[in-house]
Amino acid sequence: MTKEDLTDISRPEEKIKEYHTDELTVYWYPKQCSHAGKCWGDLPEVFDLDKKPWIDLNKASTEAIIKAIDKCPSDALKYKVKEGVQIDPAIATGPGSVDYKVAPTEFVTIKMVKNGPLLVKGAAKIMDPDGKLIKESNHIVLCACGKSDNKPFCDGSHARK
Ligand code: SF4
Ligand code: FES
Repeated sequence: MTKEDLTDISRPEEKIKEYHTDELTVYWYPKQCSHAGKCWGDLPEVFDLDKKPWIDLNKASTEAIIKAIDKCPSDALKYKVKEGVQIDPAIATGPGSVDYKVAPTEFVTIKMVKNGPLLVKGAAKIMDPDGKLIKESNHIVLCACGKSDNKPFCDGSHARK
């Protein structure tokens, strides 16, 4: 998969930030980050908004970083294991992997977050008004407050004053 393939199809111009170790490449899509804080809740030494750059991959093991990224609810973080690196495929192919395939699910659930976004869980497709597919994933965070600059996706604006 190339970096171009990773670009959000709804936002081809969106800048993707990249972070590296010898074993891992991590991609961050700032406009899709709902600032839910799962990543820094799990690994505050790696994901620290008070630092620049805010991601320091040298502060935890590759496995721990992968597990934290797999929990990102909005696909704002993705990882790719570098070629030749020996990591248990069962660990390295979770929802945060760039190679993750969206599997069909029987139900899609949509959970409302108080004063925040809608959390979509289950394989779903988001289409634009012309019927063009703009996102396919089994975890999507949609803006419900109307303030996002990246509609229909939440970009964390609901949490900013
Ligand atoms: S949306 Fe993902 S990248 Fe953004 S704060 Fe939450 S877990 Fe971290
Ligand atoms: S709900 Fe997060 S920006 Fe609107």
